[in-house]
Amino acid sequence: MKTFSSKYGNALEIGHILGGEEVFEGEWSERFNPSDREDLVARFPIATKETLRRALRVARSAFEDWSRTPAPIRGQVLFNLAKILEREKPTLTRLMVREVGKTFKEAAGDVQEAIDTALFFASEGRRLYGQTVPSEMKDKELFTFRRPLGVVGMITAGNFPIAVPSWKLIPAVLAGNSVVWKPSEDSPALSYVFVKLFEEAGLPPGVINLVFGGGKESTGQWLVELMDEGLMNKFAFTGSTRVGRWIGEVAGRNLIRPTLELGGKNPLVVMRDADLELAVEGAWWSAFATGGQRCTSAGNILVDKPIYEEFKRRFLEKVEATWVGNPLLHEVTYGPFINERFFERWLEHYAWGEKDGARLLFGKGRIQSHTSYPLFFGDPEAGLYGWPTVWEAAPGMRQFEEEIFGPTINLVQVDGIEEAIRVANSTPYGLSSAIYTHHRHWAYLFKVGIRAGMTSINNATVGAEAHLPFGGVKASGNGARESGIWVLEEYTYWHAVNEEYSGKLQLAQMDTGYVTPKPAISWKEVVG
Ligand code: SIN
Repeated sequence: MKTFSSKYGNALEIGHILGGEEVFEGEWSERFNPSDREDLVARFPIATKETLRRALRVARSAFEDWSRTPAPIRGQVLFNLAKILEREKPTLTRLMVREVGKTFKEAAGDVQEAIDTALFFASEGRRLYGQTVPSEMKDKELFTFRRPLGVVGMITAGNFPIAVPSWKLIPAVLAGNSVVWKPSEDSPALSYVFVKLFEEAGLPPGVINLVFGGGKESTGQWLVELMDEGLMNKFAFTGSTRVGRWIGEVAGRNLIRPTLELGGKNPLVVMRDADLELAVEGAWWSAFATGGQRCTSAGNILVDKPIYEEFKRRFLEKVEATWVGNPLLHEVTYGPFINERFFERWLEHYAWGEKDGARLLFGKGRIQSHTSYPLFFGDPEAGLYGWPTVWEAAPGMRQFEEEIFGPTINLVQVDGIEEAIRVANSTPYGLSSAIYTHHRHWAYLFKVGIRAGMTSINNATVGAEAHLPFGGVKASGNGARESGIWVLEEYTYWHAVNEEYSGKLQLAQMDTGYVTPKPAISWKEVVG
């Protein structure tokens, strides 16, 4: 690693990390601060397929020792990691603000999530329980053990550059696996530092290997393709539904069960009895936290007819007071688009809305000097910033159905709880969901009727906790869960073991001592 001075801190020149060694192979790429593109944050190489093969072989060889290291010792490494992350929290937070444009508050939360995950799994190393199971036969015992899967390929997104990788890396290594991780090309510096902190915590070289590169026709695609060469036993991915489907196909033909955390179009329902102030705040945060660049961001706010106009008035008032700008220099609600691809895609939705006849209530596309969004702080030309955007839309419209991944929200009118649930379920996705109501039966109907992996009652659609399962249904994922004890299913397999003490071959299913019922009287004769 080399460092050199850049506009808002140092820029890092970094290589892939294979078996603890830094490797500079591949064409160079650069990551700039998305709030100000004059601020270079990292220079990194793009891994070729051959570099990936090598990384996977290194991971295979590290797996041999690591998988035999006792789980409490593996857990101890994670306990060390939690302490190191706490120490480095301010540095990682600032780097995250620079590298992906999160606000300080959100970036600190992102790092905190990794600390919580490390603490949770540090203690899980002392459990990682199996079961004892009664046998059908005498002098025989049955057991189950969790075993690691082997080498895990991972691809993560840049919107949660420490938290979401921690949901995968930490349980994977706790369970005894080794990893080749391709982080987003939007967060190379953070990923590099994160792997270095694992090393400092005592993780042996080669257990986590880091490879940089892009997605399509680049490192990400090649890593997926290498499942066909038998170099991985597991694949974990956070990203779009389109790419997730393809990864699922490649994994499927290799009999690998992947973890696929995909997109969302998350509904937030506001019922007629809701605490409107709370609902407005929750809806606003769900829509605009991280500039709408979370897979849990609200996509549609479904508002009950009797309070629709009042909610709309109060919500627009709140939206109009949203502070946008450079989060490194100003206290704002959200900063820039993480990358140009997200911005271009977001911008397109204005045309969808116009075509489908949705009504634009607030928002004018990119924030530029000449359109002067009144609450913008910083230089709007230095990055890609979007107006907070609010539409009145209806089910069936493209913007109602598709993930937009930016600061845009639709208000949709519904009439009563039955319609709210039907409309909430009518997008292809099923990740997160929320309802604001004090009516216990409506809350209950929503809980049991909504098709989503996660539901909030009187709370926002965003905001995961490290020990609750995270994941979706329908187009939001393949049913795999991250976080908490549930994620262990994704990084281990169950090994059933029987031990025979009788000194003879007892035949299962045949030499059992089942008792045959012997009727004392004939009930047929008694009953006649
Ligand atoms: C995400 O992974 O995009 C969201 C996590 C959260 O909302 O906390």
